[in-house]
Amino acid sequence: MVPFKTSFAILAAFFSLTFLPAIESETLFARETSDRDQLGLKPEKMTHLRFYLHDTVTGQHPTAVAVAQAATTNTSSTSFGVIMVIDDPLTVSPDLNSMLVGRAQGIYVLSSQSELSLAMTMNLVFTEGAYKGSTTLSVLGQNPILKNPRELTIVGGTGVFRFARGYIRLRSHTINMTTKNAIVKYDAYALHY
Ligand SMILES: *[C@@H]1O[C@H](CO)[C@@H](O)[C@H](O)[C@H]1NC(C)=O
Ligand SMILES: *[C@@H]1O[C@H](CO)[C@@H](O)[C@H](O)[C@H]1NC(C)=O
Repeated sequence: MVPFKTSFAILAAFFSLTFLPAIESETLFARETSDRDQLGLKPEKMTHLRFYLHDTVTGQHPTAVAVAQAATTNTSSTSFGVIMVIDDPLTVSPDLNSMLVGRAQGIYVLSSQSELSLAMTMNLVFTEGAYKGSTTLSVLGQNPILKNPRELTIVGGTGVFRFARGYIRLRSHTINMTTKNAIVKYDAYALHY
């Protein structure tokens, strides 16, 4: 016969596995959870997204604006020290009038003294189809804009892209050094559930 203490332990283990509440008590701060179904986590998959980012600095409707610069920025050939805020449209083709799939919202900083390079911190906010609503990818990285290809890091996401990680390969489609406007092709590879 199983001793009482052991059978109680088995019973307790059984119940903790069967009835796994999301939060056991109001004062619980953290707990390991192995129940991935509860979070709706399906098997991991990879999504490849391709779109074009339109960074419009000058013209009638700029989507990238300078909010600050260093006193020495004007004498820097790489515009070192400029901080830009962006709300750049993302479209399915290089044509700005093609289908809009989202926007890149965030900040980039001209952060190199030796080349034209942007330290980027932005959210790709998708607005098309199944991605409409709350689907975003959070992106960080160093972007030396005259190099092709170059890479940014996907550090996370929301909605469809919860738990996302991955990278984005960038290629310049057009950069106009006079207007400073650019169209950049983005190939994003995101692992998510
Ligand atoms: C830099 O140059 C721009 C335009 O040439 C001017 O408006 C701005 O005041 C200058 N900034 C500094 C910090 O000198
Ligand atoms: C850059 O833009 C200016 C002004 O719109 C235009 O005249 C020029 O042809 C453009 N340069 C290139 C390389 O597209």
